[in-house]
Amino acid sequence: MRARRIPVVLAMLIFGAGSASGQGVALDPMSGLKMNGDWEIVRANCIACHSPKLITQQRGSEAQWLHMIRWMQAKQNLWQFDPDTESRIIAYLAENYPPQDDRRRMAIPPRLMPPNPYAPPTKEPDNARESL
Ligand code: HEC
Repeated sequence: MRARRIPVVLAMLIFGAGSASGQGVALDPMSGLKMNGDWEIVRANCIACHSPKLITQQRGSEAQWLHMIRWMQAKQNLWQFDPDTESRIIAYLAENYPPQDDRRRMAIPPRLMPPNPYAPPTKEPDNARESL
């Protein structure tokens, strides 16, 4: 009896271990998105402008994903979503691509960036220097 259990435990380790974090989920061959929950809404709305790899390489909490969406809406002509669609997209992203320490970091806020040497001269004081 004991020996029979070992393959079951092994199978659970191999196939079951990652499922809580969305690992082991089949990937859409076209986009590479995890085929989980509302993934088709994300495919329909998020890969028109750029490679889906920008999404699958990114990690974030709900707040961080919302921040990225707001940035694209403000700067990159991303359209507005109705609240239901938006909350489904955010939930999908935060669940399947959650924050992870060893992954790509979040973008550095502009106020923490060094001055851009190629920027045209401005009359504004250079705020970036203040924090140094
Ligand atoms: C209307 C065009 C457009 C759509 C649609 C769009 N994006 Fe973007 N997104 C952009 C542009 C432009 C960039 C900047 C690309 C670059 O840096 O090369 C970007 C960048 C990103 C980045 C990288 C952000 C960073 O900090 O490097 C992520 C992640 C991302 N988009 C996710 C999404 C998600 C999720 C959706 C769907 C909700 C989406 N995008 C839909 C235009 C779009």
